[in-house]
Amino acid sequence: MKKRVLVSRKVFPEIVAALSEHFEVDHNESDDILAPDALRLRAQGCEGVLCCLSERIDAAFFDACPTVKAVCNIAVGYNNIDVAEAKKRGVMVTNTPGVLDDTTADLTFALLMAAARRITETERRLRAGEWKKGFALQQWLGADVHHAHLGIIGMGRIGQAIARRAAGFDMRVSYHNRTRLGAEEEARLKVAYASKEEILAQSDFVVLMVPYSAATHHLIGEAELAQMKPSAILINTARGGVVDDVALVKALQEKRIAGAGGDVFENEPALNPAFLTLDNVVLTPHIGSATRATRMQMAALAAENLVAALSGKTPPNLI
Ligand code: GLV
Repeated sequence: MKKRVLVSRKVFPEIVAALSEHFEVDHNESDDILAPDALRLRAQGCEGVLCCLSERIDAAFFDACPTVKAVCNIAVGYNNIDVAEAKKRGVMVTNTPGVLDDTTADLTFALLMAAARRITETERRLRAGEWKKGFALQQWLGADVHHAHLGIIGMGRIGQAIARRAAGFDMRVSYHNRTRLGAEEEARLKVAYASKEEILAQSDFVVLMVPYSAATHHLIGEAELAQMKPSAILINTARGGVVDDVALVKALQEKRIAGAGGDVFENEPALNPAFLTLDNVVLTPHIGSATRATRMQMAALAAENLVAALSGKTPPNLI
């Protein structure tokens, strides 16, 4: 008899077909987010779960679903899963690193450029019929991206992909990371190590690319925003909760920084409504890795992890 697995969000048909060769698959085709109790109910009798960031997998889940031996996240981040609780029970947890680095770096740059050059704001104004004067020398002025100073906080694979893009814009790049890169890597990427304080005080653009954890909760709050230049722009494509959204809204309202770009927010999808009233922020709905090719690779990698985990092998991306 085939083992039973739950796919808790809608995935590509190819992935369901591949999983069905090994397992009896319960696929949540409606794609509705399963609330914790519905998730626990649906996972009864399953040995594996292929899930997304929208599912909270915690001690209560593991207690209610003791047959589950593997939880495979279709994401590189895994703060939705209590890994310590999984480990206590011998449940394998996997993620999907590597396959989304360039796609997420592209989106980060798109937000940076859109915020700098006021792309979404001016498009809104054009659509609203506010473009009355034709080419006007002093209208809708933004900030230069080329030759500006970029500060990257979090220099893992995605941070490095962002630095490579910045080199093409002749930007000066500083970075901060828990562990400093080697001298050769710094030279190859043309980046200089700096403290978080130096990055906040000196950068024209501050990009966040750290994983979310207790240590990075509200890494950027009121005090940190106050250290930034009034002309600076903050970009968060890392995780909601890394930035204190209430503090960011206040800084943007009071124009204590020039702008922001955000793809991730606290309490997604319940965005702080004050963001919607602001022109100096570019907002996207957690689409960092959202291209067909990349999402397909993420789902395929998660499925590969699940098949390995339930066939007694070590999955390639075991956390
Ligand atoms: C998306 O946010 C991911 O962690 O892959």
